[in-house]
Amino acid sequence: MFSFHPLPRLVVMSMLLLCPKAMAFVSIHQKALLFYYPLSTVAEARNAKLAKLEIFGQPLVCYDNKNGTIIVHSDICPHQGASLSKGWVNEMGNLQCPYHGFEFCSGMFCKIPNPILEPRPFRSNTKLPVFPTLEMNGMLFLSPVSVKAPPLPFPFFPPEEYDKNFRAVEGSRIIDQNHMTVCENLLDMLHISYVHSFGNSISPLPYSMKTRNLSETSGRTEFLYQPRDFTISGKVGRVSKVVVQNEYHLPTNTITRVIAGKVVKTVFTRSLPLSKNKTLLFWKVYRNFWMDPYVPEFSAPGDWLMTYLMKYTVEEDVQMLHNVYPLHREGPLKTKYDITIKNFRTAVAQGYQQPLPVLTNATQTFLQAFHDYDI
Ligand code: FES
Ligand SMILES: [Fe+2]
Repeated sequence: MFSFHPLPRLVVMSMLLLCPKAMAFVSIHQKALLFYYPLSTVAEARNAKLAKLEIFGQPLVCYDNKNGTIIVHSDICPHQGASLSKGWVNEMGNLQCPYHGFEFCSGMFCKIPNPILEPRPFRSNTKLPVFPTLEMNGMLFLSPVSVKAPPLPFPFFPPEEYDKNFRAVEGSRIIDQNHMTVCENLLDMLHISYVHSFGNSISPLPYSMKTRNLSETSGRTEFLYQPRDFTISGKVGRVSKVVVQNEYHLPTNTITRVIAGKVVKTVFTRSLPLSKNKTLLFWKVYRNFWMDPYVPEFSAPGDWLMTYLMKYTVEEDVQMLHNVYPLHREGPLKTKYDITIKNFRTAVAQGYQQPLPVLTNATQTFLQAFHDYDI
């Protein structure tokens, strides 16, 4: 199903059958979605110098090794379990544990400090689970599989990212809710009229819905919606109906593109599962109005207003999301308006069934995290 996986399924299954250690991971890997996951912006990662991150409940440390490379590996010191993110990066670019000062070079245990003697680095078999990273369009991504594995598909970005007629503002918000519930909220066309102040409670239902798959891992629903006259669509677009395109792109990306005549506003999100009921939502809002492509300073008021409106909108969602029972996300009552959510769930379920390319210790840690995460 995924183009990035060149190993025939038969070969992988034979390997798993011949190797009892690998066999233990069969049921685990079926829960994994092998894609790049967003960690932070590159600027944040570099500014922080040393930061603690989390993914699927697994603590990670992220640091700049002073050679321009951002290293991401487990935050748990393999000696006596200290949090490595409470340590420091020394002049050699090695990470030193705050508890006993042991040094780690790109995740490899490489030195016990002893200032009296000439430093004697040594070879060690102790290596922390290190995750490959990718920097793309200012975002830092984590790969759950080893560099030796076939490459993953590049992280998804909407076409607006590469279109000079669009300008974007971005931000993030930690939400105390399961990441699937957060994603599905962003694919939910019915809540707009009830949860959002810009929604139309007089004409709440979308109409003329069309749904189609964009690929095996993405899909779109397009529908018409009647905006209220004080909204951007009503005031700037001056239309009585807007086209809304709602898309999912695995693993956790969504798009809500509102087209009001020539005016287009696109909300793009990525959700990072921090732990079972905590999600880091990254959002980016693109627009082709309230901007000057030649004098960026003239776009500042538009930037400020779009940021304000998006934060306001996210807070309206958060108020509702904090009051959703995560275990009852898939209730028995379903309507035709839940079609995008339904298709997203199907794509996620199919994604879980993909075979695993290479079992490194980092991959195993990641998959164990998936397993324990238990969505
Ligand atoms: S716990 Fe990290 S060096 Fe001892
Ligand atoms: Fe919403």
